[in-house]
Amino acid sequence: MTTQTIATTPFNDQKPGTSGLRKKVTTFQTAHYLENFVQSILNAANSIGATIVIGGDGRFYNDTAIQTIIKMCSANGVREVIIGQNGILSTPAASNLIRKHEAAGGFILSASHNPGGPNGDFGIKFNQANGGPAVEQLTEQFYNNSLNITEYRITDDPDIDLSEIGSAQSGHLNVTIIDAAADFVDLMSHLFDFDKIKNLFHSGSFRMRFDAMHAVTGPYAHALFEQIFGGLPHTVMNGTPLTDFGGGHPDPNQAHAKELIEILNSANAPCFGAASDGDGDRNLILGKHFYVSPSDSLAVIAANAYLIPGYSRGISGIARSMPTSQAADKVAEFLGVECYETPTGWKFFGNLLDDNKITLCGEESFGTGSDHVREKDGLWAVLFWLNLLAVKGESVQQIVEGHWKTFGRHYYTRHDYEAIPTESGNRIMQHLQDSLTTLPGQTIAGLAIESCDDFSYTDPVDNSVSEHQGIRILITGGSRIIFRLSGTGTEGATLRVYLERYEPNTAAVNQDVQVTLAKHIAAADEIARITELSGKSAPDVIT
Ligand code: G1P
Ligand code: ZN
Repeated sequence: MTTQTIATTPFNDQKPGTSGLRKKVTTFQTAHYLENFVQSILNAANSIGATIVIGGDGRFYNDTAIQTIIKMCSANGVREVIIGQNGILSTPAASNLIRKHEAAGGFILSASHNPGGPNGDFGIKFNQANGGPAVEQLTEQFYNNSLNITEYRITDDPDIDLSEIGSAQSGHLNVTIIDAAADFVDLMSHLFDFDKIKNLFHSGSFRMRFDAMHAVTGPYAHALFEQIFGGLPHTVMNGTPLTDFGGGHPDPNQAHAKELIEILNSANAPCFGAASDGDGDRNLILGKHFYVSPSDSLAVIAANAYLIPGYSRGISGIARSMPTSQAADKVAEFLGVECYETPTGWKFFGNLLDDNKITLCGEESFGTGSDHVREKDGLWAVLFWLNLLAVKGESVQQIVEGHWKTFGRHYYTRHDYEAIPTESGNRIMQHLQDSLTTLPGQTIAGLAIESCDDFSYTDPVDNSVSEHQGIRILITGGSRIIFRLSGTGTEGATLRVYLERYEPNTAAVNQDVQVTLAKHIAAADEIARITELSGKSAPDVIT
């Protein structure tokens, strides 16, 4: 083994405040690019003598990147790396492994739901010792290191065969290759009543479809829904992970999970449908001819947690990202626990989970999770719903409609204006900033604006402050309109508009969500001058 120190030049591609780097594969293929970022992380992450987890969602470049990271870990004095077989780990499974093995952290190779393949996207992020995405102090260090980097260290050892479970050696580095699905299934079996779920599958009338979108959850889903629970052979669709996700966009929502949604809306629909994204942290929940909004899903999960073995002792609190609907707040109020409102992004839940202030958390962007790991967890949410269906003996629709009857309904939709010029995105946000003092008291499109602000969050555990997290417009009666720019888009700016209307009595309202929110949609356009400033008369994606 020879360790080489290779001279390089600094780069500054990481967006400050984000936990990783997400770029085109072709960018990652340029000389020293991946290596610079990995070295910037290793320099900040106390890696000497440490154990580090490595795995990715299996997209194109996953295996090449992992071999590079192994050689760099070896050259930088890491003691052991734990890697999923074939280099594949879902994001929540990686989070679990970091916690279970008390690792110093983990490299997760994924661009989540972004398309893959040689012309698609690749990404890398670092999760810290609690299993969650690196906090801002750490990502600032990665960023600053990347601005100053002059060299990186790598060995010239041969590649490791990642297909065999067991131990290998790369120089002085111990390489442990594990069966990731087995570990994850074991964790799930301690949270959910697998026997009750098996009985549901064997009851004769129950059928489900799970769309793995040719992404990382395929093997986990085959093991759970078919082998363990005994679902029919075609329960899992698109279950073979492909390096380009079959050319698809592995994001489980109305825009990209059309095939599954059609099946659930067909005459012979199964009782339950679900999907997960590229790296397995997002989830979509469907009933027969019925869509469950992620905000409602979080609220239903919280209201029924006492029925599920892993949560039967009650929950300590709930957190939702600011744009997520306030449905969970109603449940928290009923349960007498706190509901925290955090900025967008899973990393803001980390301290609340570590401090046991919350048990459950979620985002409107198809993310739901609990204190079992420090990432959102797609399959966890699906298993929660399966366990709930098995216990309650009701359909998905009955469960959700029953919930609305008790707590009222938060009609909700998100409108995305994608890839608008960065300049236009900034002008819209600036215009909103400038309107904050004049909007309260006005009636726009028939809606009375009560107050508005630029959302700022003080972490209740470490008192860190995060400012400018979105413009929040509060309307009389508990409705809201929220505007923010995406932090994950890779082209220009993406404006996200979140629309929410609260109705205590759902029977009185037109059931089509877009129609029900028509005034809110009109008001949003008028308040933010979207059509005028973005040049788009309609959103690109509606979820
Ligand atoms: C989006 C979602 C956000 C989620 C993030 C990572 O971020 O809106 O809820 O945490 O992806 O999955 P955005 O592009 O809006 O910044
Ligand atoms: Zn994801």
